[in-house]
Amino acid sequence: MSLDLLSRRDLFRQGTIGVLALSIGSRVARSQEALPNPVGSADLIARQAVPFNGEPPLNKLVENWITPVDSFFVRSHGNVPEIAAKDLKLTIDGMVDKPMTFTVAELMERFPKAKTTATLTCAGNRRSEFAAIKKVGGIQWEAGAIGNAEWQGIRLADVLKFVGVKAEAKHVWFEGRDEVVEKNIAFPFGGSIPIEKAQVTTATGSSLLATEMNGKPLTPSHGFPLRTIVPGFIGARSVKWLHKITVADRPSPNHFVADVYKLVPEDNAELIAKTSPIYEFTLNSVICVPTQGSSVSGNQINVKGFALTNGTTGRSVQKIEVSADGGQSWKAAKVTSSVSDYCWVLWSAEIPLTETTTSLVVRATDTSGETQPEKNPWNYKGYQFNGWHRVNLKRG
Ligand code: MTE
Repeated sequence: MSLDLLSRRDLFRQGTIGVLALSIGSRVARSQEALPNPVGSADLIARQAVPFNGEPPLNKLVENWITPVDSFFVRSHGNVPEIAAKDLKLTIDGMVDKPMTFTVAELMERFPKAKTTATLTCAGNRRSEFAAIKKVGGIQWEAGAIGNAEWQGIRLADVLKFVGVKAEAKHVWFEGRDEVVEKNIAFPFGGSIPIEKAQVTTATGSSLLATEMNGKPLTPSHGFPLRTIVPGFIGARSVKWLHKITVADRPSPNHFVADVYKLVPEDNAELIAKTSPIYEFTLNSVICVPTQGSSVSGNQINVKGFALTNGTTGRSVQKIEVSADGGQSWKAAKVTSSVSDYCWVLWSAEIPLTETTTSLVVRATDTSGETQPEKNPWNYKGYQFNGWHRVNLKRG
């Protein structure tokens, strides 16, 4: 079901803001139109002006293993709420012994600081490539809706332990303070993760309530003052402008969990309702240099890109291979960056060119033995595209 086909009843399932929405809806819709690009970063190519959504050119992405904030993609379904840190209160309720509300300062004082490096990628990254089969609706991301950052804050697990999770709890819901507006109805963005993922306390795998990105306070576009970071999961589960956590026995009924981020072959409400939400991101690799359509000369080329495993715990990238003859023969690439769980690796390969070379393709294999398919099956919402990434070349 597309957002456009959502019924009002569906939207009212979303949460508290929806209940007020009919009366304020048109005002919200107008203010959405008025707001400028809140990012203003020259490094991002706008894929949607309002609300602003943008991705960096691919060659920027391989300059650093840790993506600078200016080159970090922005994916927002509604406008960026302007929230002073002192005004954000986080409520934790549902299946807990002590429902509580904290300010951000209280959270940071009460719980130990934690840091993790993790790759964030949108489930819709590479969506534009579905057009080779059949174009999918939604933002036409190329391959730059991905970045790797150092996130700092506190562990979600510590907060859950403090409030006491009841035995019957199975999922943790997140709600943002933004308002997504559809058909003059405003409702909050929400996410949801299984309780086991929320309770992980390993150095690299802990889900965070993050206040900082790359050593500085989160920018408004990336969720200031508080967001979740869920290593290995699609970006949609890392909820920005976090103001509510609910512990429950089932996944959140929020539209972005119940309807949107799911792999379905067609727009069929019954099928969508039966399909599980996407959690882990997918195995992938992309050529960032040379860029699409580059002119090349000589008999060798230096090819660079990124690769990441499926976000399932315990996997790492085993091999990255580049082909200059459409996949008949492959040459192994070398990892040139740090390697850490739930993070991409950067790679480079020296590839011989001949007069007949017209394209390069890349594929990755992970330690579970999974290899990227040459082509991946089409899905209605355009998620998790991970067919071999191809760059076409012109002979200079
Ligand atoms: N959180 C809120 N509150 N609102 C949103 O629109 N977008 C999600 C997620 N968290 C979103 C959100 C999606 S789909 C992605 S991919 C990531 O944020 C993007 O995070 P970034 O904009 O910091 O790169």
